[in-house]
Amino acid sequence: MKVARRARDTGRGPPLDELTDSLAVAATQQWTQAALERLLLHPEPIPVQWERSARPLAGPVSAAFESRQFPPLPGLSPAGPEQLRGGRLQDLHAVYGGLGSGRLVIVGEPGSGKTGAAVLLVLAALEHRRQVPSQNRRLVPVPVIFTLHGWDPNTQRVGDWLGVRLQETYPLFGGKGGKAEAAELVKAGRIAVILDGLDEIAEALRPVALRALSQQASLRVVVLARSFEMTVAARQGILEGAAALELQAVDAAAAADYLTRVQLDPPPRGWTELTGRLRREPGSPIAKALNNPLTLTRSGTPSAAATTSASSSISAMPSATSRERTFRTSRRT
Ligand SMILES: Nc1ncnc2c1ncn2[C@@H]1O[C@H](COP(=O)(O)OP(=O)(O)OP(=O)(O)O)[C@@H](O)[C@H]1O
Ligand SMILES: [Mg+2]
Repeated sequence: MKVARRARDTGRGPPLDELTDSLAVAATQQWTQAALERLLLHPEPIPVQWERSARPLAGPVSAAFESRQFPPLPGLSPAGPEQLRGGRLQDLHAVYGGLGSGRLVIVGEPGSGKTGAAVLLVLAALEHRRQVPSQNRRLVPVPVIFTLHGWDPNTQRVGDWLGVRLQETYPLFGGKGGKAEAAELVKAGRIAVILDGLDEIAEALRPVALRALSQQASLRVVVLARSFEMTVAARQGILEGAAALELQAVDAAAAADYLTRVQLDPPPRGWTELTGRLRREPGSPIAKALNNPLTLTRSGTPSAAATTSASSSISAMPSATSRERTFRTSRRT
């Protein structure tokens, strides 16, 4: 097997550690690029907030923080009820890494920033992994983001599916022993999975997938989904032990700050009027239209502002679903 050969040939550290570190490097490149393309790093991202969801999406939250399944990641503290009440995107990593059950469900409206949150969470987790002293690094799994596209949980076990997805996604596993290496990483708990897009599998399969993850995944698992879709799925199957968090609408002042931040200085005519109106009338229709990252990022670029008013550019924008599909397609290729 390639793993064993590598250890003998090189004499460098345990091969599983080496492989995990290589995956971390590949994932960092992949998601840094994705974050740059999605404008999640520059300019400063929209300060999306989350709260513990009041919807019936998971079991009692005490099951999530009282579980002893996963000790906190090195350098982090256990996440308790206070930490689960709510926070900013930057706080998600402490919850992910400190929650005893290691399981999270994150929901939100279409375009509320779920995929953005997943990408930023993964980058924070990879950065934390780099900063952990090297002797502890093996205790920190490498987070990978997959959509559920193509998984039939009735016929393929979680571990087998994840092994295949790793191999398909990372050329690192392209060699002869790649399949066994990917399987080994999964089995040894060297990865954590962030599953985005529950809607990518048939509605009837969604609760089956959640139950399969509950019963078979011994890894940290985060599932992201639209609120409505997860609510429907959760009637028939949940991710046991998960804490459910919900992304919140962006408030008008934060939206105005973001639109100011991404504009030319001085801003084009009408722009100051728009941001002023958002601040003065936080309940106005335009504030409601601009209360999520999808509409904000579509209206906030200098080109959008120069050519049209924010409200008309909103009505002309493609749906969240089609934008997301474009992203997913480009990510797969
Ligand atoms: N915090 C953020 N700051 C800046 N831009 C963001 C932020 N979050 C998301 N975006 C951008 O807003 C758009 C919509 O966000 P995203 O795709 O994350 O929403 P979503 O909730 O995953 O949508 P869907 O329900 O369609 O999957 C994307 O172009 C994304 O890059
Ligand atoms: Mg998404």
